[in-house]
Amino acid sequence: MADTVIVLGGGIVGLACAFEAAGRGYKVTVVETGKPGGQASGAAAGMLAPYSENTEQPDAFFRLCLDSLRLYPQWLAEIEEASGRRIEWIPSGSLNIVYHEADLSPLRTRLLWQNRLGAQAEIVEGSRLRELEPHLSQNVEAALYCPQESHVYAPDLVAALEDACRSRGVAIMDHSGAVTDVRLSSAPGVTVSTTARGDISGDRLVVCTGAWTGALGRWFGLHFPVHPIRGQICAYEVPVGVVRHMVFSPQAYWTSKGNGTLVCGASEDVAGFDTTVTERGIGRLVRSGPKAFPFLADKPVVHRWAGLRPAIRDGWPMLGQLEGAPQVVIAAGHYRNGILLSPVTGASVTDLLDGKADWGLLAAFAPERFSLAVEGSLSV
Ligand code: GLY
Repeated sequence: MADTVIVLGGGIVGLACAFEAAGRGYKVTVVETGKPGGQASGAAAGMLAPYSENTEQPDAFFRLCLDSLRLYPQWLAEIEEASGRRIEWIPSGSLNIVYHEADLSPLRTRLLWQNRLGAQAEIVEGSRLRELEPHLSQNVEAALYCPQESHVYAPDLVAALEDACRSRGVAIMDHSGAVTDVRLSSAPGVTVSTTARGDISGDRLVVCTGAWTGALGRWFGLHFPVHPIRGQICAYEVPVGVVRHMVFSPQAYWTSKGNGTLVCGASEDVAGFDTTVTERGIGRLVRSGPKAFPFLADKPVVHRWAGLRPAIRDGWPMLGQLEGAPQVVIAAGHYRNGILLSPVTGASVTDLLDGKADWGLLAAFAPERFSLAVEGSLSV
């Protein structure tokens, strides 16, 4: 009989794990406190931008992001087929703009190592830059153009992924209420207690609880230093085609969606689990708009919202099986890259369930890497 897997958390990462595990024959139940995709996943701008978001060096995290970017076309096709829905995926490419020539120097360094890893990027300026992005301000001196980056419409992707999971037989237990206990045993493996759905038991547990993962470490005698970083974001009504690329400036980014909105993100503030939108957070984004795109000076913001990025102390996700409890896999803390990293996370988690994961590749993301033994040990 197939192993039963409980996936805790119904954001895009949890759904990606459930989709892949169900595809490989596991009997999967997703347990979600509220509604699937109701937190960071649904709020995200949906950028698939490993080169623009990771600019320092080609480390293990950058390579994980790149692996995931490469999985995206096939992954989206599988979700579309399983869900019967079309997912908006715009291969726009990106422009990282600078206002001063001196700021080009870090972009040139980045270009050197990123082009060795497939970016196909180039510095563009003058008429070539204006051809690519006609409405950019004359204040923009130059840009790093990266044609390999793209973006998806995250709310639709999450909805399609939820449907795709159901079509593969995944049970989605939403509005489960809070998790009040996690008990490990040799058989059946794990029992999760929730306030609204009672006890749920399975052979394996995959923890994908995003910004809320910090509170779960205690069930495993481990320290998970995950904390929420609020991202405030806003949107203007701007016809499709006016802004052609994902445009990153030092202050903000802009992506044009198929529904005729230009999404502008995103603040990084520490406000606990508060998803309130503030004048300060949105004001900074709005003020940066006309500097890059003068036409934004006259545009009202039509929509504003916020999500909580799950940040980990060292900036890298936790992705691995617990040494002391091999029936538990942790996949959390994807910070700014949750949408991008979902396919590789689903594949890696299911490789771990299958017992055929590449441990060398995942060593850098070990969930135990922060843990000094804490009071109370595993009850396995
Ligand atoms: N990946 C975009 C953001 O976190 O704002």
